[in-house]
Amino acid sequence: MTTNDIRQKFLDFYKARGHKEIPSAPLVPENDPTTLFTSSGMQPLIPYLLGQSHPSGKRLVDSQKSFRAQDIDEVGDNRHTTFFEMLGNWSLGDYFKEDQLPWIFEFLTIELGLSKERLFVSVFEGTNDVPRDEESAHIWKSLGVSEDHIFYYGVKKNWWSRSGEPDKMPAGELGGPDSEVFFDFGTPHDPAFGEKCHPNCDCGRFMEIANSVFMQYKKLENGTLEELKQKNVDFGGGLERIAAAVNDNPDVFIIDLFTPLITVLENVSGQSYTKTPEITRTMRVIADHMRAAVMMMADGVVASNKAQGYILRRLIRRSLLYGRTLGLTKDLSYIRELVHPVVSLYTEAYPDVGEHAKIIEEGLVEESARFAKTLDKGLLELSKIPVLDGKIAFTVYETYGFPWELTEELARTKGQHVDREQFEEEFKKHKDLSRTAAAGMFKGGLADQSEQTTKLHTAHHLFLAAVQKLVDPTIKQRGSNITAERLRIDFNYSRKLTDEELRKIEVLVNEKIQENLSVDRIEIPRDEAEKIGAQMEFGHKYPDVVSVYFIGSKEDYFSLEFCGGPHVSFTGALGNFTIIKEESAGAGIRRVYGTLT
Ligand code: SER
Repeated sequence: MTTNDIRQKFLDFYKARGHKEIPSAPLVPENDPTTLFTSSGMQPLIPYLLGQSHPSGKRLVDSQKSFRAQDIDEVGDNRHTTFFEMLGNWSLGDYFKEDQLPWIFEFLTIELGLSKERLFVSVFEGTNDVPRDEESAHIWKSLGVSEDHIFYYGVKKNWWSRSGEPDKMPAGELGGPDSEVFFDFGTPHDPAFGEKCHPNCDCGRFMEIANSVFMQYKKLENGTLEELKQKNVDFGGGLERIAAAVNDNPDVFIIDLFTPLITVLENVSGQSYTKTPEITRTMRVIADHMRAAVMMMADGVVASNKAQGYILRRLIRRSLLYGRTLGLTKDLSYIRELVHPVVSLYTEAYPDVGEHAKIIEEGLVEESARFAKTLDKGLLELSKIPVLDGKIAFTVYETYGFPWELTEELARTKGQHVDREQFEEEFKKHKDLSRTAAAGMFKGGLADQSEQTTKLHTAHHLFLAAVQKLVDPTIKQRGSNITAERLRIDFNYSRKLTDEELRKIEVLVNEKIQENLSVDRIEIPRDEAEKIGAQMEFGHKYPDVVSVYFIGSKEDYFSLEFCGGPHVSFTGALGNFTIIKEESAGAGIRRVYGTLT
């Protein structure tokens, strides 16, 4: 069964049950300036979920092209992709759980032939306001799902809205409890992720393949949830993940939508996909990014320095940089060779791809050639400079668009170290960079200096101090990324943090916010800062004189960190801190996302 067959079977299955097929909305949302890309099937249907009547009726089915820019750094493992297709079916106030769950189960087990034994399901455990979903559990049991394959989870896992849990939903946002289906690949549990394995465990044994959202609530201005006039079903299933389950292999990059791209990369580089984990990762990144770039261009996105165009440019540049690590430096014809399989795989389902094939190919080659020239010029300039420092690294970035990572790697081959902090300082001084910075070009540093970002940066320090005090004092920061919307922090720790630990951290951070502690910066020699125990990022190199930030009094501080700032002057300015998500970011590394409201 090919992945194209799976898509078609899904559409036919629901059409046979009274659904009208609707075309995928474009990747760039129409009439929605608040978001760059369509990232889920329900997004274009919001007015209809709220009650407006849909011209195709109350039962809809589609396969929606989706893109999640926030996942760009996650690509490289066996399951994350930026572009994906979401199979979706909707009941706009028509049928509900009693039809949806049996249908999706029938589709997965009968149409696709997945074994019942390999499927696990989750249902909502309930809150004070929303009842525990015994009804779904009962339906699953009646379908033959055994009790030990049914798991209850709370709002973090079994509630769906575009902004996450009920507390995080802004007024007017839609949401509801959901019931997910997971495929068990049967790989042994890795205890680093917790004592016991379960469907939402991050050890890699399970993969979520289907999500039925019972979209029946709207958030009101007063913070409460109101039942919608109509009870909706919003189903979403990642096509690539479903195909991986059918393939009985958790690597989505070996499904037939990716193998032709991987084969091109193997041929042009002369290296096998499985040769080393690094090569596997590199080929996944290129295959993902080039597919996404083609699909974006088919929807009219043109590489530029703004908005969607900037994301496209970033995908292409990242592909080329990763390509260089496979030895693909001079001959860019492989770019053309990667476009062809994407066009032939997608033209039937999305005719735009075939119609624009020539423009896409030429556009991609042109943009790649432009960047390759920039790289060559930059490399030549760099080779003339005897000692590279952060200032020069910034100048070549500014002049040639030369990425930091590459400059650093050149410097390393000369036995030099380029000071990242100096580079970042230069970056901050430069007034006109919010455009690229806001799009998150720079990992590991502040993206911009807006008020909200500054607040999140201070919250980041509070979080690190809280996790050290409450969970383990030996925890060290291993990476960070802050945008105007949220903070992200990576740190070393061998297991998933429990919900209880996360809650306690939230409480402690909020207490420190309420205490309105002062935030003070001093400049001292690095040795002295180390002596007084200032936190530094693991593996990060610092200059001889560093800037450190105290939160609280210098005699009795809550947090002390090496940092260039900027920060708020008093923690009281931060508002309310919430943790959005906790996940693995590689072996022994945890990643937490948090936000301020
Ligand atoms: N809205 C849900 C999701 O995106 C189901 O379609 O997962």
